[in-house]
Amino acid sequence: MALIDEITKRRTFAVIAHPDAGKTTLTEKLLLFGGAIHVAGAVKSNKIKKGATSDFMEIERQRGISVATSVMGFNYKDVKINILDTPGHEDFAEDTYRTLTAVDSVIIVIDGAKGVEAQTRKLMNVCRMRNTPVIVFINKLDRPCNDPFDLLDEIERELQIRVRPLAFPISSGDTFKGVYNIYEQNLSLFTSDERQTADAQTVDFSDISSPELDEIIEEKYANQLRENLELVEGVYDEFNREDYLAGKLAPVFFGSAVNNFGVRELLECFIQIAPSPRPTTTETRPVEPSEQKMTGFIFKIHANMDPNHRDRLAFMKICSGTFERNKNYLHVRSGKQLKFSSPTAFMAEKKSVIDFAYPGDIVGLHDTGTFKIGDTFTEGEKLKFTGIPSFSPELFRYIENADPMKFKQLAKGVDQLMDEGVAQLFTSSLNGRKIIGTVGQLQFEVIQYRLEHEYGAKCRWEPISIYKACWIESDNQEQLADFKRRKHTNMAVDKHGRDVFLADTSYALALAQENFKDIRFHFTSEF
Ligand code: G4P
Repeated sequence: MALIDEITKRRTFAVIAHPDAGKTTLTEKLLLFGGAIHVAGAVKSNKIKKGATSDFMEIERQRGISVATSVMGFNYKDVKINILDTPGHEDFAEDTYRTLTAVDSVIIVIDGAKGVEAQTRKLMNVCRMRNTPVIVFINKLDRPCNDPFDLLDEIERELQIRVRPLAFPISSGDTFKGVYNIYEQNLSLFTSDERQTADAQTVDFSDISSPELDEIIEEKYANQLRENLELVEGVYDEFNREDYLAGKLAPVFFGSAVNNFGVRELLECFIQIAPSPRPTTTETRPVEPSEQKMTGFIFKIHANMDPNHRDRLAFMKICSGTFERNKNYLHVRSGKQLKFSSPTAFMAEKKSVIDFAYPGDIVGLHDTGTFKIGDTFTEGEKLKFTGIPSFSPELFRYIENADPMKFKQLAKGVDQLMDEGVAQLFTSSLNGRKIIGTVGQLQFEVIQYRLEHEYGAKCRWEPISIYKACWIESDNQEQLADFKRRKHTNMAVDKHGRDVFLADTSYALALAQENFKDIRFHFTSEF
């Protein structure tokens, strides 16, 4: 098959949500439709339940699950779908943000009773940075939910994106009757005894003024639906695919993932409107997927769970051309030519060695510790893909060596864990002490545990009071030097040697921004 055909049939996306909104359930139902799994419950939730923070067996178990479900590929009606999994626990949000750099679109799941939640907002911010096309699935309609119009308004307001319902629910909770699919002009009726199994009963219904509707769903609900649909057509513009692809408009669906309701409609629409692999930006030029030469970048690294084998699996997103097994590729950062004898692909739950992969695909590469997140592979051109963010961490601690005999092991362990993107390392300009910054409490425990079990090193944490770390830059070198001199005690460098200001308080940060107008304070950086 020609490269262009391979590209056009691919859809690489992630399902994202605030924990508990139904991401795992929806993913599982999508896999069921794709025939990738055959029984419900096959996809394990990769979330670490609250309260399990010090249960390290749980963390290891979750790591196992997250290797298995990192990429779930399947074919549905001639379309090759790659779902990239994202961690459920918000302490691993940074992992999720990076995964979002490897997708071409996302489906956001929102709990219809809770509306937009904190993590939904943060994830949407990342999508907005990249203009990622977004489809919204409002879930749990079998439970009493907020008014659909209020939900739509809330999404527009809170997620700062225009919405266009392509389905509309008929009541919710005990009186939930079903969903009218505006996109397909049919009615899906909800019968709760179909739970987890069958497809919903669908009635084609292009003319909702027909009295037949009153017989099917009771007059009261039929009238309500007519009114609501009239309002939808009055309030919202026609669905415009260009706006959706530009990340400016989010089509919205309603359903109940656990009951398998509304999922088929979502999937059908998804394969029609969602984008195939899009051009990727580099420091020098955009890379088109259809370019003949292979390019790709690493967005995720997974350590082996067996402490005796310190090898890792690096996940590369193919951006252009055809990736081939045993062919030499340039690892741009090191300048070395490397070839891979056993690259893996992920179909359903199985990992298998592949000979070829195409743009949009994710390939697992065996790594003995040389790769870093953001590394680029090409056929010779010195490209560097951009836009793989590292976010300003929110929690900080000094890391100290607790076993003087194991200094080297500790240094190596910390280095490798940082390359994997577990956390960020800063070195204080004041005293040269190492500071670890994370987005969640759990990472400190994970780091300590993994240093001990995988590297035989022991660390100790010591408190440090920092409000935020931000990367600073300026074209005014004099002002920058002055800033660094005055703020000497709060300065550090990250692992790439870039200047970082460690603000003690929000007040100190605001004051610094006020007093040093020529300095740019960045809250995200790039790998
Ligand atoms: P997450 O990955 O986004 O964190 O959410 P997950 O799919 O694990 O779903 C969270 C909980 O919400 C689960 O219940 C799940 O069964 C339930 N759920 C998902 N979709 C729906 C829906 O459409 N309607 C209703 N009523 N519930 C839904 P749980 O009790 O935490 O787990 P479980 O024991 O039921 O699996």
